[in-house]
Amino acid sequence: MSLVGHLIQVTGPIARMRTVAPVGVLEHVLVGHDRLAAEVISIDHDRATVQIYEETVGLRPGEPVHGTGHPLSVVVGPGLIGQTFDGIQRPLEVVREAQGIYLRRGAAAGLPPRRWRFTPALAVGDVVGPGAVLGSVPETPLVTNRVLVPPTLRGTLVRLAPEGDLDDTDEVACVRDAAGAMHVITLLQRWPVRRARPFRERLEPDRPLITGQRVLDTFFPIVRGGSAALPGPFGAGKTVLQHSLAKWSDAQVIVYVGCGERGNEMAQVLEEFPALVDPRSGRPLMERTILVANTSNMPVAAREASVYTGITMAEYYRDQGYHVALMADSTSRWAEALREIAGRLEEMPAEEGYPAYLPSRLAAFYERAGRVTTLAGDEGSVSVIGAVSPPGGDFTEPVTQHTQRFTRAFWALERELASARHYPAVSWKGSYSFYADNVAAWWRAESGLDWLALRRRAADVLEQDARLEQMVRLVGADALPDRQRWVIDVAALIKEGVLRQNALHEIDAFCSPAKQVRLLSLFVELHDEGASLLELGVPLMQIRERLDRGRLTRLKESVANDAPELIDEVWHETRRELASLRRQAEEQAKGAAA
Ligand SMILES: Nc1ncnc2c1ncn2[C@@H]1O[C@H](COP(=O)(O)OP(=O)(O)OP(=O)(O)O)[C@@H](O)[C@H]1O
Ligand SMILES: [Mg+2]
Repeated sequence: MSLVGHLIQVTGPIARMRTVAPVGVLEHVLVGHDRLAAEVISIDHDRATVQIYEETVGLRPGEPVHGTGHPLSVVVGPGLIGQTFDGIQRPLEVVREAQGIYLRRGAAAGLPPRRWRFTPALAVGDVVGPGAVLGSVPETPLVTNRVLVPPTLRGTLVRLAPEGDLDDTDEVACVRDAAGAMHVITLLQRWPVRRARPFRERLEPDRPLITGQRVLDTFFPIVRGGSAALPGPFGAGKTVLQHSLAKWSDAQVIVYVGCGERGNEMAQVLEEFPALVDPRSGRPLMERTILVANTSNMPVAAREASVYTGITMAEYYRDQGYHVALMADSTSRWAEALREIAGRLEEMPAEEGYPAYLPSRLAAFYERAGRVTTLAGDEGSVSVIGAVSPPGGDFTEPVTQHTQRFTRAFWALERELASARHYPAVSWKGSYSFYADNVAAWWRAESGLDWLALRRRAADVLEQDARLEQMVRLVGADALPDRQRWVIDVAALIKEGVLRQNALHEIDAFCSPAKQVRLLSLFVELHDEGASLLELGVPLMQIRERLDRGRLTRLKESVANDAPELIDEVWHETRRELASLRRQAEEQAKGAAA
């Protein structure tokens, strides 16, 4: 660390300095006597502008600035999982007080020191390339950390630690490159937050990321390695849904970035998550989760960095062959940080005051999602779900618009649904996913049913219902023919029995794929059966009398995820009821003919 300059002016998170030694753009520097974390954002002759990641109150012109010689980086290594960090990776302490989360000024970034049991996977003399797996340490009962050769290094292993305990800064291996230079590798490594980690090849998505939320998995699926936007007006349920995704989605590692959320919301996460149990392993959820928190009361520049810190950690686990999902809540608060900093820099504003590079920054973030072949030849993925909070719920504003361009699933939350307490308030009219075809084969193999056709038929009922809505408002449902009233009936059953899901219910909070398909199939078959009875001349009233609607719509809560066949049993009973109507109708028809 060396002196690179002195401050000449401080305005909020931005400071200007006079340089006395060479410093690079994007270099990580330490500002003032308190050595506050900062990053150089521009240089003009002997003047440089820095962005400071900590509270700058009390910082004075004349104070020194020290260089670190490297860009703002994340320290990656075993021990990330289970931790809570701020936007530049400083461990957070939670206090149960008003502001919820506490951070010491000038606190060191990185990981608390720990010892790990290392097991080598290679031998001295082996030739290794970028990303090769040197060995592993058991990071948590759910995640084995694979220790990789850094992405830029190739050579011969001249030393490799034997099976045994290591400090995270001890040498794991030493590699001699082609030029004869020696490179020591430790468990902890650095990676610049703003640079995507390399991989061998990008792959087409082929498997859904199961979220356990029926409206998403069934109607608007996301894939492993996919990206989704979650826009919604104030209070529509974005945060609750992001929490559900972090809890239940079937990624192996979760990175949850709370970005500009209120301090008490994040404190709730920090209290709630450690008590949660992973539905698949029965282990504490935190054994596969990393939390990054930059609440609205923390410095704005660290919020800008937090999404990059989060996604760099996500890529680090992807590179070990894991399927990782990252939730960012809310990317609008991140964009506002970008706007505030741009304003301080007196940059020319573009749309609604955001800097002209807003779209390229958003693209650079969502482009880091993907399913890949890693440098070591394994498969890994990063899925990204970004919540967007458009002011006034207006989806035409820039952050929503640009996010929509760079993501392939769009989960629009609707104010009307939320106020009717239909949760999750995901609009079935305003949402879409381009991934349905990618995941159809997986669902077919999983269920033995033509999933694509099934969901199309269900969506068709919902669309017909939406078209009838206007008519119902004008003339009332009773004026419509039975055939159309039946569509409205079934649509109501699908809304209540499939789309609506209670995040707080012990069983319903997560819905397994097998249960989802059976519920969907029940309502689609019910629709067809009813329609065919109506054609035989059975009055709608009689069909309604035979249906226990409450029982059908409560199946989501009454049937456990591991006993989905109970849904089929209920359907068989229902069908027997309807079959008796069919027999009556057929006998009457015969009687009439005779
Ligand atoms: N799935 C759900 N089940 C039950 N209640 C819900 C659900 N989703 C949202 N709510 C209710 O709506 C309230 C607001 O939800 P949430 O905080 O997720 O909204 P938001 O869109 O994140 O709001 P903001 O724009 O303020 O960030 C919750 O406190 C809860 O009462
Ligand atoms: Mg929220």
